[in-house]
Amino acid sequence: MASGHDRIEKNIGLMIILVIITVSIGGLVQIVPLFFQHSTTEAVAGLQPYSPLRLAGRDVYIREGCYLCHSQMIRPFRAETERYGHYSVAGEYVYDRPFQWGSKRTGPDLARVGGRYSDDWHRVHMHNPRDVVPESIMPGYPWLEETAADASAIRKKMEVLRMLGAPYSDQEIENAPAALEGKTELDALVAYLQELGTAIKMRR
Ligand code: HEC
Repeated sequence: MASGHDRIEKNIGLMIILVIITVSIGGLVQIVPLFFQHSTTEAVAGLQPYSPLRLAGRDVYIREGCYLCHSQMIRPFRAETERYGHYSVAGEYVYDRPFQWGSKRTGPDLARVGGRYSDDWHRVHMHNPRDVVPESIMPGYPWLEETAADASAIRKKMEVLRMLGAPYSDQEIENAPAALEGKTELDALVAYLQELGTAIKMRR
């Protein structure tokens, strides 16, 4: 008489259903606890929610598709930590919605680029990367210094982020448009870049 196992192996429909059930249980066991672990849901010490200027810069980063060439995720391997600094930890991303991990590195990882160069270096580099890195294949973004930072929806954005857990005060939201006054998209982008990864300063 055929054992239970034989029957499953010969009945592909039953096999598919049982595989789906098994994989689903395995997946849930791995994923669900992450929603409740402090190490993955709480901000690392010193991490600040994005200021209005940085938030505007982050939107420029997303709009221009910087994530298509740059990751923001240092993996815990020697080759990565030697080059970029301390590996990324979950608590650094709690205010990132959506996160900018990326999946391709045509250029270097940017998770800890904050403070690595001067503001002036970034301004020249964003205008025309080849002025500071002659062999660079990164495109220039000269229009950013001529475009005013977009303040039109900044309050709304901060309100939504507050709903999702970013601890903005009413005052901060109220004053947000003023913080963008007179700023260009380049100012905002550089402010964003200069604080990336700085909550964990350890380099090597
Ligand atoms: C076509 C791919 C590509 C795109 C798109 C791109 N970059 Fe780059 N980026 C590079 C490459 C390659 C380098 C390394 C050479 C250099 O420094 O210019 C680089 C370097 C950088 C660096 C210096 C990093 C370091 O540690 O030296 C910064 C900062 C940077 N990019 C920011 C940006 C931002 C912001 C955007 C979007 C506005 C952007 N990049 C879009 C390819 C790209």
